[in-house]
Parts: sequence; structure tokens; C-alpha cells
Amino acid sequence: MAVSRPVLKIVHDVVSLRRCMQGLRSSNQMIAFVPTMGALHAGHMALVERAKALADKVVVSIFVNPTQFGPDEDLAAYPHQGSRDRALLAAADVDLLYMPDALAMYPEHFQTEVRVSDVSQGLCGAHRAGHFDGVATVVTKLLLQVLPDMALFGEKDFQQLTVIKRLVADLDIPVGIIGVPTVREDDGLALSSRNAYLTEDERVVAPSLHRELIAVAIDIANGSDIKERCARAVDDLLGAGFTAVDYVEAREAITLSPLAGHGPEARVLASALIGAARLIDNVPVP
Ligand code: PAF
Repeated sequence: MAVSRPVLKIVHDVVSLRRCMQGLRSSNQMIAFVPTMGALHAGHMALVERAKALADKVVVSIFVNPTQFGPDEDLAAYPHQGSRDRALLAAADVDLLYMPDALAMYPEHFQTEVRVSDVSQGLCGAHRAGHFDGVATVVTKLLLQVLPDMALFGEKDFQQLTVIKRLVADLDIPVGIIGVPTVREDDGLALSSRNAYLTEDERVVAPSLHRELIAVAIDIANGSDIKERCARAVDDLLGAGFTAVDYVEAREAITLSPLAGHGPEARVLASALIGAARLIDNVPVP
């Protein structure tokens, strides 16, 4: 007996997208949206699974957004795995895949930028000039193109999630933003498309980022001096084999403002380089 595989509907431009969205929205269906840059892994698929649990229809986008990569960053090398991504989304029974190309997103004469001021500053914003402007602009466009009821983003990119929550509130975009907990390997390494850049030796060192963040969070909860403890974590990570550490910082979880004391809702965040990979991670202060 022939087994029928789920067929994934794919659109490449906003006119076709809007036509499909009209169909999906009929009879008051709840729509969840998962924006991605492809190279899908279990972290993305956890977003899709959560979206399926929360909504009637799930739309995914794949667009490697050039404006969020700096001139020295890895746009050209960013992993592409088109047919594998499509197979994963078809197997997950996603209702629609939106895959615009750069010209469809940024046509000739495009000149509008969305910039979220405070929460884009510091942390990754201090090391990746213009990155969050690129993210804010493309996410605003994607949300307005798809107009879902909700959109889901991973907590691994905690600053990105905060920037997106801020812009949606500030611009009155009628979409609920949902953060989904980080998916990790058994040894604690946060899943990321950039883990593909790690050599075997670097892969052994990489989980110490998560271990260190947990240790910092516990020490802060137990009353350690925040500045001193974060500075020690930088030394520990360099000692463990990281090439460079952009930052280890404790921030208020909602506003991302520097942590004044040991109040609730705090997060420890870090970015560190190992070989060709910039790894980011964060954990809550218990
Ligand atoms: O997290 C990502 O994959 C990207 O930054 C996003 C949100 C899809 C915008 O390009």
C-alpha cells in the first residue's frame, strides 16, 4: 500500500503568502508563527511543537536575513540545508512555509529601519553593531506580513526575545510573543545552528559555558558580589578553552537593565567565542 507523505505548502512572496493566510484564517483558526533562518535543529522543532499545541495552524518562515549580520560575521558561511529543513517541516505537519528571497524582503528603494533603543544596547548589542536593528526590522516585517495570533521565539536568544517583545508592545502589533525554553544537548550545550562550526575538541569545551552560567546564577542567588562573580566567570571560561569572552552579565529579566540587587526575575547571560563559533547562552537566577 502506498504511504502518502504530508505535502508542505511553500510560498516565496508576500502576495501568495497573504492569499494563503486568508485561507488559513477562515473559520477563526488560531495561527502560530515560527520565524527561522533555516538550518533547523531540535530547538526549532520544539518551537514548532509548542506552536502546534497552542494554535490550529502553524506557519514557519525561513529567511537568512542579511541585515542582521555584520561585515565580519558569518552570512556567507551560514549553514543552509534546504531540503532537510523542508522534510522536517513536512514531517511536523506544518501548514505553510514562507521562504522569501532577499529581494522580496528588501526590494529596491527599501529604506525603513526599526530600532529598539535601550534593550538592544549592551550584551550582544555591544559586540554586534546593528545586529538588533536588522532583527527588529525583519521581525516587524515578518509579523506584519503573516499577521499571526502568536509568534514563538527561543529563550536562548534572550536579548532578541526581549527586543521583539518591546517592539511589538511599542508598535501595537497585535501578535502575542511567546518565549520557549532553550533545548540542550545532554551535556547542557544549548542547541544552535552555529554548533556546526565546532571542531571535535571545541565541542568538548563548549558545554562549560552552560555549567559556568549555572554556577554564577547559584552564587548570585546565594549573595555573591555580582560584578566579581561575573568577572571570575570570564576568567574561568578563558581557562576552560574559550578563545574570547564577549560578556558574562547578570540582568533584570524583563527590562535587561543591570541587576541592582538579588531580587527576583534575574538572568545571567553570556556570549563567548570558541574557534569560528560565537556561542550565547543564559539561565535564570534561581
Ligand atoms: O533567531 C533567528 O533565527 C532570527 O534572528 C530571526 C528571529 C528569524 C530573525 O531573522
